[in-house]
This record gives sequence, structure tokens and C-alpha cells, in this order.
Amino acid sequence: MTPAAHQDPTAFYTAGYSLEDHERSLKMGRWRAIGARSKAAHAVELCARAGLSPARVVEIGCGDGALLAALSEQWAAATFDGFELSAPAIEIARSRAIPRVERLEAYDGARVPVEDSAYDLAILSHVVEHIPDPAPVLAEAARVARFVLVEVPLEHNRSGRRPAKQAISASIGHLHAFDRAAVKALVGGAGLRVIGELADPLARDHHAFFAETPKARAAATAKWAVRAAAHRVRPTTAEQLFTVHYAVLAQAA
Ligand SMILES: C[S@@+](CC[C@H](N)C(=O)[O-])C[C@H]1O[C@@H](n2cnc3c(N)ncnc32)[C@H](O)[C@@H]1O
Repeated sequence: MTPAAHQDPTAFYTAGYSLEDHERSLKMGRWRAIGARSKAAHAVELCARAGLSPARVVEIGCGDGALLAALSEQWAAATFDGFELSAPAIEIARSRAIPRVERLEAYDGARVPVEDSAYDLAILSHVVEHIPDPAPVLAEAARVARFVLVEVPLEHNRSGRRPAKQAISASIGHLHAFDRAAVKALVGGAGLRVIGELADPLARDHHAFFAETPKARAAATAKWAVRAAAHRVRPTTAEQLFTVHYAVLAQAA
């Protein structure tokens, strides 16, 4: 049996990217590609707002390279590196042959093997909620790049407190349920200053991805419509009720 994420992260994420169940791995690949579209849009928007056109980008915890692939389409002049705990994830990322991706390497989850300030931008996308003590990984991102982008699901909310939701989060390795203040405290603790932030209640295709029947798809569409409207009208209240994806761009203070 695979150990839990907090017991042996490398074993947990090595198993998580296994290709043994072909159908499942194809489906999860499509799921990550959908997620990568919104994650890349968030990165592009926050960098554009800050007037940042990163030339050298690193993704720490790059998984199967889905986000690197989406960003490579968006930032056509940039080069990219990716480091990841899971060796099979890196093999999948390499097999994509993503344009302008240079290094794709499994690493120890602690020290990114590059010199200080090697990059313009370091990305930690849906990674810090998976790490028992995320502060050193944030400090490492701040060491290797001038700007750091962190994205997490904000799960410190009413929906996130439901036992069923907590069981799902635990099963995919979430060790923390953040709110905005906790993310900002983490970022500040790494000597970084937040210069931009956004939250996204996510698109319909995200909510409907695992819906298998017409009834489930209709329920997912209704959920998406209600959440999108609530977040547009009352974002603070909405974030106390349900999970949104939250991205911050930060710079050395
Ligand atoms: C939900 S996936 C996100 C993958 C990718 N960043 C994305 O947004 O599509 C979480 C990833 O964090 C990785 N991870 C966990 N602990 C890590 C660490 N200490 N350093 C780097 N990556 C880590 C896992 O192996 C996994 O690939």
C-alpha cells in the first residue's frame, strides 16, 4: 500500500503519476491539462499586471509538465525549467517535448540545484498545500528567482470543513487548508512582498470534469453558475463558503 503524503511524499507522488492504469492516467492527464489552462491564465494575468515578461521561468513541483506546456504557449520568448519530487512525473513531462523547456529533473524536494537568482520567475502551483512544512520551499523559490508566483486552492471554508471534502483533500495529498491570510503569511515569511493577487471560482469544464451522467453534468453546471455569480457579487463571503483557486505574485521585499 502507498504511504500517505505526510509519511513519504516521494513514494506518494511517485505512485500518483503511475501509468499502470492506462485509462486512469489518460483521464488524469486531461484533468491536469484543464487545470493548467486556468493556472497559466492566472500567471499571465498577474505578470502582465506587474509589467513582468519573464525570460527565465522555473516551476518547482512541475508534476507532469501540464502547466509548463500551457505557459510555453503563452510566453513564446521564455525558457523554462521544471523540478519535481516524482521521477515518473518528470518522465511524462519529458515525453511532451515542450518547446523551450531546458531542464526537467527529479530533485530532493528541498534544494533546487541552481545558483541564486537564476530565474526571473519561480512558480509554486498547487504545491505548498502538499508539503508538511512549506516555508523552506518558499524560501528556496525566493532564493532562485526575483519573482515568485504561488497558487493554491483556498480550502479553509465551510465546504472544506465537510468530512467528505476533507477525505478527498487528504486522498490527493493536501496537508493544509489555506485562506488568503495564511498564504500571505507564508509568502511574507520567505522575505517576499505580495504585489498582485487574484481568485478564480473556476470554469464550468473544471466543475463538470468528473460528472459521468447527464444529471451529474447538469448539477455541475448549476454549481458552476451559482459559484461564479456568488464570487462575482460577494467574493469575501463566497470564499468563506467554498473553494476557489488563489494566486499571488510576490517579489523580494
Ligand atoms: C497537485 S500537483 C501540482 C503539479 C503542477 N505544479 C500543477 O500545477 O499542475 C502537486 C505536485 O507537488 C509535488 N511536490 C510535493 N512535494 C514537493 C516538494 N517538496 N518539492 C517539489 N514538488 C513537490 C508533487 O510531486 C506533485 O507533482
